[in-house]
Amino acid sequence: MARWGFFITFEGIEGSGKSTLAHFLKDRLEALGFEVVMTREPGGTPVGERIREILLTPGLSIEPWSEVFLLLAARYENTRTVILPALQNGKIVLCDRYDDSTMAYQGFGRGLPLRLLSRINKFATLGIKPNLTFLLDLPPLSGLQRKSIDERTRFEEEQVLFHERIREGYLKLARRARKRFVVLDAQKAPEELADQAFLITLQRLKEKGKYRGEIPPP
Ligand code: TYD
Repeated sequence: MARWGFFITFEGIEGSGKSTLAHFLKDRLEALGFEVVMTREPGGTPVGERIREILLTPGLSIEPWSEVFLLLAARYENTRTVILPALQNGKIVLCDRYDDSTMAYQGFGRGLPLRLLSRINKFATLGIKPNLTFLLDLPPLSGLQRKSIDERTRFEEEQVLFHERIREGYLKLARRARKRFVVLDAQKAPEELADQAFLITLQRLKEKGKYRGEIPPP
């Protein structure tokens, strides 16, 4: 277990800039010599990417629990075949959305019971928890406006109120796990967010004895 890596997830509503931040962080960590594996959910594996296509298809009607099972199938596949092996090999794993997305979207957004979601999430994640989660917080209207009409997925077709519930849900999750979550203001410039996330990541890696260099001044 000595070589166990470090697991970072990125969460937030649509258009909050998660993927951009994850890419920035990957480049900076690799520049320091870290081995980084990047993945996303739903997706990250051949099966997961196919499931993603189903889930995002505009206008496709899916029962809320069927949506959960599709998401969890993608998560199990990603955890088993990508995340677990990378962590076992001491790598840093960056995952664009993970278990908190299900709590926020299907739990707070669609109103499914949080306890049950949490239990089945544990099954799909093999009990692996992120070491660090960046929550990019943003008012839903600003996020949705960042996407053009033709870019809209099944989730982005939902009412603003749905996205409001998700935002509030995420903030609740962050309050319940203060050590793991770092809430970032997604309205800041992408470079500024990247600087902030990079420094926080280095500090956390240092605490775990995985980084022995200097932490650059902010
Ligand atoms: P993503 O590609 O991150 O969308 P965006 O780039 O627009 O933020 O995620 C795809 C969609 O899947 C997103 O609308 C949220 C939804 N989703 C859930 O509802 N539950 C989940 O557990 C996950 C992982 C994603």
